Order: sequence, then C-alpha cells, then structure tokens
Amino acid sequence: MIRIDGKGLLLTGLFFAAAGASGCGRKEELQTETPQAQGDSIVVGFSQLGSESDWRSAYTKSIEEAFTEENGYTLVFDNGRQRQENQLKAVRNFILQEVDYILLSPVVETGWDSVLQEAKDADIPVLVADREVDVEDESLYTAWVGSDFKAEGTAMGQWLETYLEEQGRENEEINIVILQGTLGSSAEIGRTEGFEEIASQHPNWNILAKETGEFTTAKGREVMEAFLDRYADIDVLVSQNDDMTFGALEAMDEDGRTYGTEGEITVLSFDAVSAAFDLMEEGKINADHECNPIQGPLLSELIKKLEAGETIEKAYYVEEQIFTPENAAANRQERMY
Ligand code: AHR
Repeated sequence: MIRIDGKGLLLTGLFFAAAGASGCGRKEELQTETPQAQGDSIVVGFSQLGSESDWRSAYTKSIEEAFTEENGYTLVFDNGRQRQENQLKAVRNFILQEVDYILLSPVVETGWDSVLQEAKDADIPVLVADREVDVEDESLYTAWVGSDFKAEGTAMGQWLETYLEEQGRENEEINIVILQGTLGSSAEIGRTEGFEEIASQHPNWNILAKETGEFTTAKGREVMEAFLDRYADIDVLVSQNDDMTFGALEAMDEDGRTYGTEGEITVLSFDAVSAAFDLMEEGKINADHECNPIQGPLLSELIKKLEAGETIEKAYYVEEQIFTPENAAANRQERMY
C-alpha cells in the first residue's frame, strides 16, 4: 500500500513530481507519478476523509485489509484530515496518476460535482464510500456503499419512544440535547433528520439545543460542558457518534451529573465501537446504534465485478442494529470493531 498525507505528499513508495502538460493551475502541488502497480494489480486511490474517530480507524482498516496485494490491488491511501480541499486535491492527484478506480469517503455531501466530472472525463470509475455525495448528475459516480443514516436517526427516536413508555414517562416533559457530527456530512444530516422526525411527533419532547461536536471526543466534551452550564435539567443526550459520547461522559462526570441506566440523563449514541460496548455493559450508555464500518470486502467485490464487465447497483446499504446494556455482552462476541 502507498500512503499519501493530507497535503498530497507521498509517505512511501513514490517520488514527488511536478505536473506535466495540464490545464490545472495548481499542478505544481499535485502528485502525478503513477503508483507502482504490483504486477497487473488494480490500482485504487482511496481518499479517506480523516481519522477523527474509532469508527473511522475501523473503516480504514477494513479497506486496507480488503485491498491487499494478495487480493490483486495496489492501494494508494490519502488522509484528507477532515478538509474537503484536501480531498479534492487527493482526487485530482489520483486522476493525474491514472489510477484504475477511486474510492471517495466524502467529508461533506456538497461540492463534488467538478472533481467527479474530471474523474468521469478521465474514465476513472468512482465508488463513493460511507457518506454520500449530493451531485446534480448521479452518473458522475458509479456506486455508493454505506449506512442509511436517516434510518439510524429514526430508529433511535423510536427506541426512545419505547423506552419512555416502558418507564411510564411518555407524557412527561423530556428535555433533549443533541451533539451533532460534522455539519453537512451525511451522517449528521441523516441522524438529525431521522431523530427530529420522531421528536416532532411528541410535543412533550423539547430539543433544547443541537450543536456540532465534529465527531471528536475533545469537541464533544467541550460542547457538552456548555450544555451542562446552560441547562440544569437535561433528560436525554443524543450524541451522533461514540467519540463525542466519550467526551460528553467526561463532562458529565466532572459536573457531577448522573447518566445511563441508573442516572438522570439517558445517553443515546451511534457507532457501537468496542469501547462503547464496555460503557453499555457498565450501564453508562442506554442505547447505541451500530454504524457498520466493515465495507472494504463489499467495495472490493464491486470492483471485481466491474473488472469482469458486470453491472452493479447504484446504492448498497450495510446492515446495522441497535445495542443496549441488556444485549451488549452477548452481541459483542466475534465483532470486528
Ligand atoms: O460517516 C460515519 C461517521 O463518521 C461515524 O459515525 C463517525 O464516528 C465518523 O466520524
């Protein structure tokens, strides 16, 4: 595998080279050397959006394990470090390098039309992975693989409905704060929309605040501290990923608030990574909606089908479920993340 950092600089395997004849004004920044394919392997450029969360690490691992030399690939990895401009540069590098396929995990949904048009003009199929792109012309990418983020948000809202009913609290005023992920990302948009749709059916559910914690522990903690300063009475925290939840729990500990199955604040989280299973087993997270990062094998299978001239679907949803303290211990067995 070949790694490129967020600035488009090669970390192993290749020499930096200035662009040749190209209409691109930023060509001096671009990596144009064609990656050294191993034998007749398929060269895949992967623009990963960042390394902000445990989930993201599991996703990267899944891609690296699927796109190996033994499996017939040369993988060129670029970490966009949460910046769309880095990802745009990475995709342009891949085009100049004439890779065979591009995998794009986009940090936000919009702003991809031009670069995807450039990939299409260069006849390089793009598979969008994890989050979605919002483009005018869907023929700009070949297929998308990922989670149904809106369904995740809806399911979490429905889980809360049932939970409150079981507690005999369905008619109480319920004060909710939401820690959102990166604004404009599919994971944030879908989880917010899905949960709010259910919340809107309950006039007694008050969404006190929603703010981005950028899918990171540090920012999750910071925003939760502000929520706790602002609101004395919080019944439910909806945290759109586990890393933000970890930070929020620290903030609640410091503020002396109780949470989880025995506490005042019900904690709902997303991802269901291994450390979150530990917290569920301790009763500190009430429910966690899985976000399935094991997408590498399917993406590889799709590329093999394209290589064989087969037609593939436009969208593939991965399977996911909700975990709770009651079923956490049994369900975590044999999980890969
Ligand atoms: O796009 C998936 C989301 O991105 C995961 O929920 C989150 O942990 C990651 O940062």
